[in-house]
Amino acid sequence: MSAPHPHHHVHETRHFPDGFLWGTATAAYQVEGNNTNADWWAWEQTPGKISDGSKSGLACDHYRRYEEDLDLAAGMSNNAHRLSVEWARLEPKEGEWSAPEFAHYRKVLEAVRKRGMKVMLTVWHFSVPAWFAEKGGWAHPRAAALFERYAAKVAEELGDLVDLWNTMNEPNVYISQGYLSGGWPPQKKNPLLSQIVALRLAKAHRRAYRAIKRIRPGAQVGLAQNVLSIEAYDSHSFTDWVGTRVIDWWWNHLFYHFTRGYHYFLGINYYFHYRLKKFGWPPTTFFAEVRKERRDTSDVGWELNPQGIFRVLKDFESYKLPIYITENGLPSTNDDRRKRYLVAVVKEMWHAVQSGVDVRGYFFWSLIDNWEWEKGYAAKFGLVEVDFAGGTLARTPRGSYSVFKAICEDNGLPHEMLRYIGHAVDQPYEPLPTGVHAKKEPHA
Ligand code: BGC
Repeated sequence: MSAPHPHHHVHETRHFPDGFLWGTATAAYQVEGNNTNADWWAWEQTPGKISDGSKSGLACDHYRRYEEDLDLAAGMSNNAHRLSVEWARLEPKEGEWSAPEFAHYRKVLEAVRKRGMKVMLTVWHFSVPAWFAEKGGWAHPRAAALFERYAAKVAEELGDLVDLWNTMNEPNVYISQGYLSGGWPPQKKNPLLSQIVALRLAKAHRRAYRAIKRIRPGAQVGLAQNVLSIEAYDSHSFTDWVGTRVIDWWWNHLFYHFTRGYHYFLGINYYFHYRLKKFGWPPTTFFAEVRKERRDTSDVGWELNPQGIFRVLKDFESYKLPIYITENGLPSTNDDRRKRYLVAVVKEMWHAVQSGVDVRGYFFWSLIDNWEWEKGYAAKFGLVEVDFAGGTLARTPRGSYSVFKAICEDNGLPHEMLRYIGHAVDQPYEPLPTGVHAKKEPHA
């Protein structure tokens, strides 16, 4: 018997609390296909709007292939799944409900539950019905009332199948993309209007929250917000420190303040980490240049900073509410990077739990590659690859699928997974089979 490798050692699995939810997240418009009644559909037909020139079209055809996709989620031992319903399908014309579409989503939610997964439902995830957009969208004075009516209908028709509710997804991203930078429909660049819309969205959340609770009194209702981790580039700079506080308050907390008391839980989508270098004017010069400094980045240049999730969780601990990571992931064609990032994030999340933060679940974005809004199909977020190029839409699990599966099965981080973040995990010596010779490198 050979002696154990000097690195041989085992730590216990870093377990999460019993009942912790592990799942993936998707959004209807990004995976279903043929959402022809939504504002995004009309918008994406105009050349130049989508950076890779694609149209969502059939997307992943999840509308028809949802059973297969849910099998993939259940195959990772996920015990929860986050998905959204498409408002434009359910209310294709103002005040007219589509019974067949409600029936469709009933089947989908039943299919989630049948596989032993809890349902986290998002009532509205970015795309709105074309009729709503034509009326003026969220700038319309009755927008919140129209949303409340829709949310109430969803609660009546589908609420018995929902475990956790997000009324909406990332109002801060929606406002900044749709009303400040103008990169998304309705393409406004109007700071004043953006603030009006922010107040309407806050009202819409409060009204939807109350409506869902009226119809389903036990419902656990919250929303998913984009939360960024921010630190000062120079820890000795007082202005940079002030800058980080201002941005944290404005981006991460303001919407929660407008909706205080209307959250059973806090839903956090974590993707971004910024180092504030120059708090001044113009805002484009605020942040340190990630690429120049050779930081680990995603395919679209976002800094990958797993430690940031710990920072964010500690920041949100003060609300004294349960927290779900409702999204976290990265666009990358390099799956090793995805594995590394996933393991490192889960480790940081574990430290947060250890330090007393009430984290109840984690949803990876995303189960399958999908249509990434203005970036089209170029950004690859999936634990499962989808063949868009070949047009077959065939699903092929990536290596990161197995890593997430191991985490979900153990309700924690098994020791051997730590090798993805460079921890010395013993690799037993394996001799080559008889008759096979190791290839010598020519220069050896
Ligand atoms: C959104 C998703 C999006 C993801 C990756 C989140 O902001 O909720 O719809 O695909 O981030 O960019």
